[in-house]
Amino acid sequence: MLVTRQPLLRKFWYPVIPLVLLKDGPKAFTLLGRELVLWIDGDGRPVAMDDRCPHRHAKLSKGWLDGGRLLCGYHGWTFDGAGRCTRIPQKDDDDPSGIRVPRYHSASRYGYLWVALEDPLTPIPEIEEDSAPGYRRIYEFYEPWKCSGLRLMENSFDNAHFSFVHRATFGKLDQPAPSKMNLHPFADGFGFTMDTVVPVKNTALSERSLNMPGQAETVRHNTGTWWLPFCRKLRMRYPTGLVHTLITAATPINDYTSQIIQIAYRSDTEAEAKAADIIAFDRAVVTEDREVLESTTFDTPVDLRRKEEMHMASDAPGLLMRRQLLAKMAEFGEEEAHGGVGLSSSPAPDHVGASHPLATAAMCLEMTYSDARPNPV
Ligand code: FES
Ligand SMILES: [Fe+2]
Repeated sequence: MLVTRQPLLRKFWYPVIPLVLLKDGPKAFTLLGRELVLWIDGDGRPVAMDDRCPHRHAKLSKGWLDGGRLLCGYHGWTFDGAGRCTRIPQKDDDDPSGIRVPRYHSASRYGYLWVALEDPLTPIPEIEEDSAPGYRRIYEFYEPWKCSGLRLMENSFDNAHFSFVHRATFGKLDQPAPSKMNLHPFADGFGFTMDTVVPVKNTALSERSLNMPGQAETVRHNTGTWWLPFCRKLRMRYPTGLVHTLITAATPINDYTSQIIQIAYRSDTEAEAKAADIIAFDRAVVTEDREVLESTTFDTPVDLRRKEEMHMASDAPGLLMRRQLLAKMAEFGEEEAHGGVGLSSSPAPDHVGASHPLATAAMCLEMTYSDARPNPV
C-alpha cells in the first residue's frame, strides 16, 4: 500500500507534533505527502494549514507568530487561525480577508497536536490511563523511521518475533513457540483488541524499569488495541500489579517514512522506577524493532489476493489488519494502491530520510523527553 495514494487514509486523526515544540513558533510537518505548517493561535488553539503562502508560495513555517497570528517571513502577509489573511503590510487600505490558506482538522490530546486532512471517520483514540488516577504519563519517542506504518502495527501484535528480534532484551531465544492470542474485532470494523500472555526474560535493563530486582523471568498479561490505520495501545500487566501501557503511533509522512510517536503510562511512581530507566529499556526494545522494520518493504501488501507474502498462524493480527483496511477501502470505492512487485520488493533506499525531497518538510527532530502530566502548552 502506498499511503499517499490511498485517499481513505486522509480521513483519520494522526498525532503529528508534541505541543511543547510549538511554544517557540510554527513548525513544518509532512502528513501523507502534504506539507503542513503547525502553530498555536492567539486563543491557544492548534492550527494545521498548508505550508504555502498564497502570495509567492514561501513556506509559512519559515515565518513567525505576531500577536497570535502567523506572519509570512517573505513580505509579512499575516494569517489568523482560520487561515484568513488579516493583513498585507504593503497595502493596508484593502481588505485581504478573501485570501485564505487551506486548513485542516486539528486538536490537542495527550500533549500532542493531532491532524485529520479530511472529515475523520473515527475519533481520536480514547486512552483511559490518561485520566485514570494513579497513572503517570511519560513521553518516550518522536522520530522518523524508514518503514511503513502497517509494518510497525503488525509488529506490535506479532508474538512470534520476541524470541528473535528481542533476544537481548526480553525475548526467550530457546522458546520460539509464540503465545496463543485471542482477537476481538470492533463491531464497526475500525480495529480490534487482542489478549495474550507472554513469558519474558528479566534482564539487568528491565529489572530497573520493572522494579523487579533479582528475578530472572516474569510474565506479561497483555491487552493490545489496534485503531485503524496506524495507532495501537499495549497494556502490559505484571504479576506485581504493575501496569506499563504504551501508546504507539506511526504517523505517515510519505510512502516510505513514518513518524514514530510513543507515550508510556505507568501505574507506579518515580520513586519506584525512574522515568529515565523506563525510557532506557523501551529505547533498547524499539531500537531492535527499528533495525528489522527498516529492512522490510515499505509498499506493504494489504490485498491478500496479491500473494506477495507467506503467512503463519501467529500472523493473524496482521492479516486482520489487512482485511479491515481492505474492507474500508472497498466501502469508500477504493482498491489498494501499490507499486507492483518490483517496487514492493525493494526496501526504501538509504537516502530517503530528511534529505529526500518528499521528506524535507517533515519534522525530522529526533528526541527523547519526559515531563510532567500538565498540558505542555
Ligand atoms: S510570499 Fe508570503 S508574503 Fe510574500
Ligand atoms: Fe517488537
